[in-house]
Amino acid sequence: MSSKIFVTRIIPAPGLMLLREHFSHLDLWTADLPPSRAELIARAHGAEGLLCLLTEKVDGELMDAIGSQLKVISSMSVGVDHIDVSAATARRIPVGNTPGVLTDATADQTFALLLAAARRLAEGERYLRAGKWVTWSPSLLLGADLADATLGLVGFGRIGQAVAKRAQGFDLRVLYHSPSAKSAYNAQPVDLNTLLRESDFVSIHVPLNAQTSRLVNADFLSQMKPNAVLVNTARGGVLDQTALYHALKSNRIFAAALDVTDPEPLPMDSPLLELENCLIVPHLGSASKKTRDLMSLLAAQNLVAGLKGERLPHCFNPQVYQ
Ligand code: DGY
Repeated sequence: MSSKIFVTRIIPAPGLMLLREHFSHLDLWTADLPPSRAELIARAHGAEGLLCLLTEKVDGELMDAIGSQLKVISSMSVGVDHIDVSAATARRIPVGNTPGVLTDATADQTFALLLAAARRLAEGERYLRAGKWVTWSPSLLLGADLADATLGLVGFGRIGQAVAKRAQGFDLRVLYHSPSAKSAYNAQPVDLNTLLRESDFVSIHVPLNAQTSRLVNADFLSQMKPNAVLVNTARGGVLDQTALYHALKSNRIFAAALDVTDPEPLPMDSPLLELENCLIVPHLGSASKKTRDLMSLLAAQNLVAGLKGERLPHCFNPQVYQ
């Protein structure tokens, strides 16, 4: 196809190869850092297809600046909170995303963070590297047990359910809060207050939208148990970081582990970085080789389908086809 498409970063080989097979006018942003807004507008202008990452804000203004020939927006992510989906729908532009292929990687990451925060691994490593370890001690860096504890999942979609599946192997009792999801893996549906009151671990698995923005605020944190660990692998915007700072600093809750922050990257002067009981990693939930390969392939397949005028294999706004 001779359609111009713009890809906002070098994506893993499987997706890139598929794009190269189909498009002779592939414009690829090759810098390590994402294009600035002005660069994005300039380079994407005239494109019929846009393949973006979660680092690009794709709003109505950008869609109009690209032009009315824009036929498809495909994001190499499952979350689409960086895209104004209503604006795309109003312009009848299908938006593609990459569900399913990152479920296991993100559930694994949730457990990695949960265990690391519960057993104070990052703190222990900092302690050792600082040369503070002088002897084995009965009370050194004591953490929390998983067996027979309660895990509360806020959101019970694909990833929440994959976490519940893993929790069975750790002998955790699992509660979940979700307006619509059916039970799976012996997880018990409860209201949010019950979940917060009873859980030793609380893990967030909701998409970021108007309903979930700053859901984890001072009130939410005040209902958690003092021994509780909070894990967030969803989106930074779901959480009020100032409220979390105060809850951790005052030991209102035991610890937090964050895969995502708001903003990303987290500024180095963020007070959260002063806290020993806050583990933060740079949005690595889907960061395994196999998962990123599959995400790139799905994103490329969505783009190709959109430009052929076919239904996207994974379309976030299927209303465009009505
Ligand atoms: C996504 O795809 O939305 C994830 O956050 C990437 O890790």
